[in-house]
Amino acid sequence: MASREQTINNGRRLAMVTGASSGIGYELAILCAKDGFDLLVVADDPKIEEAAKQFQNYGVEVTAIQADLATREGVDKFYETARGRQVDALLANAGHGLGGSFLDQDFEDVRHVIDTNITGTIYLIQKIGKDMRARGQGRILITGSVAGFTPGTYSAVYNGSKAFIDSFSFALRAELKDQGSDVTVTCLMPGATETEFFERAGMEDTEVGQSNKDDAADVAKVGYEAMMNGEGDVVSGFKNKVLTTVASVTPAGVLAEQHRKKAKPGSASD
Ligand SMILES: NC(=O)c1ccc[n+]([C@@H]2O[C@H](COP(=O)([O-])OP(=O)(O)OC[C@H]3O[C@@H](n4cnc5c(N)ncnc54)[C@H](OP(=O)(O)O)[C@@H]3O)[C@@H](O)[C@H]2O)c1
Repeated sequence: MASREQTINNGRRLAMVTGASSGIGYELAILCAKDGFDLLVVADDPKIEEAAKQFQNYGVEVTAIQADLATREGVDKFYETARGRQVDALLANAGHGLGGSFLDQDFEDVRHVIDTNITGTIYLIQKIGKDMRARGQGRILITGSVAGFTPGTYSAVYNGSKAFIDSFSFALRAELKDQGSDVTVTCLMPGATETEFFERAGMEDTEVGQSNKDDAADVAKVGYEAMMNGEGDVVSGFKNKVLTTVASVTPAGVLAEQHRKKAKPGSASD
């Protein structure tokens, strides 16, 4: 006789992926689909429907919704799409940047970064994480960033948000371990990656915006494998591994100055 969980899930695993319409999240969703996970995917823009069609090509069940994950209503709407189905993997990836001088930024834009990258992300993780802990199983992948290692001159709020996420991820993992839970939390920390990120953050005229970047599919693969192996964290790419190692022994003022050179508006043509 089928167990209750098998009945609820039709015997299939389910993954929830945020920010799956483009970039790293799109590639994470493809990896989940290739591995046979049914998908619940979300983004803020109708492009998520196009992405969902691609995921369906892998023969899995896909539900796509549009919601602003900077709002509690948006997160609740996404959570409710699971309709009581067991979530085997949560890939909390949605996020965006904001370039420029902090004092000149529109505060609504500033707040949207914090509400998406931090508040919406951890609100969703708390909801799904509670269900996973009660069941005693589940995998959580959080897209942090190497940006969390560096004060982000001309990207101050974004880097701060990723410092929060990187730190939060390790702490939640340790709490679950202490509580004897098998639920794992993995932090994927990419470096500059070829996605819509820099355009959306208004950073295309910066040195980092114009630099050679990592491939989103490669970054996603590293993160996906680390999540499936239950690892605590993974920095994608050798260059970024060196960067984070050096950053951990470099004074914050020096890091802030280095970041200024690559993220100052117009630095692409300096
Ligand atoms: N690209 C990099 O260099 C880099 C480096 C390190 C870490 N990261 C992190 O990687 C993650 C994915 O970014 P990406 O580089 O793949 O950029 P991307 O191509 O712009 O993708 C971002 C995804 O997040 C979604 N999203 C953003 N804000 C949202 C909101 N409020 N509500 C719902 N969906 C939202 C976007 O959908 P909509 O367009 O519909 O809003 C899109 O699907 C982010 O957390 C980012 O901080 C990126």
